Amino acid sequence: MKNKLLIAFLFLCSYAFAQQCPIIPLPNHCEAVAGSFIINSSTPVIFEKPELQKEANYLQQEVLKTTGLTLSIQSGSKLPAIFLNITRLSEKNSSAYNLEIRPTGVRISGSTEQGVFYGLTSLMQLVRQSEIKNSGVVIPCWNIKDAPRFQWRGLMLDESRHFFGTKTVKNIIDWMAYYKFNKFHWHLTDMPGWRIEIKAYPLLTLVGGVGNYTDHLASARYYTQEEIREIVAYAKERFIDVIPEIDMPGHATAANKAYPAYSGGGSAKFPEFTFNPGKDSTYLFLSAILKETDALFPSQMIHLGGDEVHFGNEKWNQNEQVKQLMQKNNLADLVAVERYFTKRMADSLFVLNNKVLLWDEAADSDLPRDKTIIFWWRHDRPQQLKKALDNGFPVVMCPRLPFYFDYVQDSTQRYGGRWDGKFNPIDKLYNFSTSTLPIGTNQYNQIMGIQANLWTESMQSKSKLEYMLFPRITALAEDAWTNEDQKDLTGFKERVKGQLKLYKKDDVYYYNPFNPSQTPEPFIGSEL
Ligand code: ACM
Repeated sequence: MKNKLLIAFLFLCSYAFAQQCPIIPLPNHCEAVAGSFIINSSTPVIFEKPELQKEANYLQQEVLKTTGLTLSIQSGSKLPAIFLNITRLSEKNSSAYNLEIRPTGVRISGSTEQGVFYGLTSLMQLVRQSEIKNSGVVIPCWNIKDAPRFQWRGLMLDESRHFFGTKTVKNIIDWMAYYKFNKFHWHLTDMPGWRIEIKAYPLLTLVGGVGNYTDHLASARYYTQEEIREIVAYAKERFIDVIPEIDMPGHATAANKAYPAYSGGGSAKFPEFTFNPGKDSTYLFLSAILKETDALFPSQMIHLGGDEVHFGNEKWNQNEQVKQLMQKNNLADLVAVERYFTKRMADSLFVLNNKVLLWDEAADSDLPRDKTIIFWWRHDRPQQLKKALDNGFPVVMCPRLPFYFDYVQDSTQRYGGRWDGKFNPIDKLYNFSTSTLPIGTNQYNQIMGIQANLWTESMQSKSKLEYMLFPRITALAEDAWTNEDQKDLTGFKERVKGQLKLYKKDDVYYYNPFNPSQTPEPFIGSEL
């Protein structure tokens, strides 16, 4: 009898073990249920609210793309079927969803379309990792109730250093959607190149778009306004807001190459690095650029950068117009000039009903708290995070360690960043915790979320970009979505193994943290 009980116990344990929820980010409540549901070409998708037609179409497309099965979209209540519905859930978060999979049918409910979308993303993760038999795709039954930890789950892509183009960006957006990200921060202007078409100032792209980080003479690459609209619409279908960054007053080299009249000079190491804050015409020029930018991005948020201005603002000291500005406005030093500039440019966003987003150099500015978001990036300066919070700003956390994806992920990697010998392996990224940060107990509601930044100095090929992004994107997703008390590194690693199989299937050039030599680091100089 004892032996039989023991065998039964071991069987149950192994069943539970085999039933690890394979979804990334791990849902906050995920319970295995006996049985399985079979999806085949006669399984209908039934949407119970007309506004869910888009989500039904999205599911249909994704199932077709990944399994070759064509589901039909129908009305009615015929079983077995996949039902999509909007209902009031007990969870107040507007991105919450329930996903119930039973042998007789699948039901996805959310209190908003966005919630339903996340439910079908979880379903797609199960579909993609399930066996395809003659009868169809056999998905194990689950009971999932889920909602995100953070409202900002972001990824930044720098296309000034290297330009990747619409196809690659859409592919990244697809993976972002798959892992339930909702903010794509697009770094479009910087020293090597200006990548956004501005009709009022065509030289920004015709001249400023020439060159990249590794080839100063590379022919002009940039996004036309039409391409930007296409990408923004593509992201919107996946509930991802696109937020452009037009970096100022520093990192302005490409714009200054096109329109030198607005340059405020630079330094020996960073020539023509800044705009000229002493000229009224600079503000008119930049405001016109922001007005066109706003028209392309319905997110109603523009990131104005504001980082590292001291790299190249020394010429401001000798500039007559800057000197006059300082006198007229009682500005004591160059930091005060920088602040004046940022405030004036922020005002030009506020009249467009946009929020201003800035790197943590602006943590102690007096910008309006309800229209400003600060990005804490200097991990070695936690005081910038504290300052931003103490000053009442909402904050997105993207400290270089562990969230800069241009940093290498293992000690043998040759091309990429390090900080004091430290770098960003997937375990460190996964183990990121807010508990060690200077966040007061009453300040957690100011933390909007998390993002990783893909600076692309070392990434001039699509394969290198993918190598730096995959699979670290999975750890980032879980940091941003899953509650800290649900996280578990061992289980996570098992789930990552499932994702690596998908990357292989989809021709993604990923880094393999379990066997790094399997995928060699792409060399500098390989093809785009
Ligand atoms: C930054 O990395 N300069 C924001």
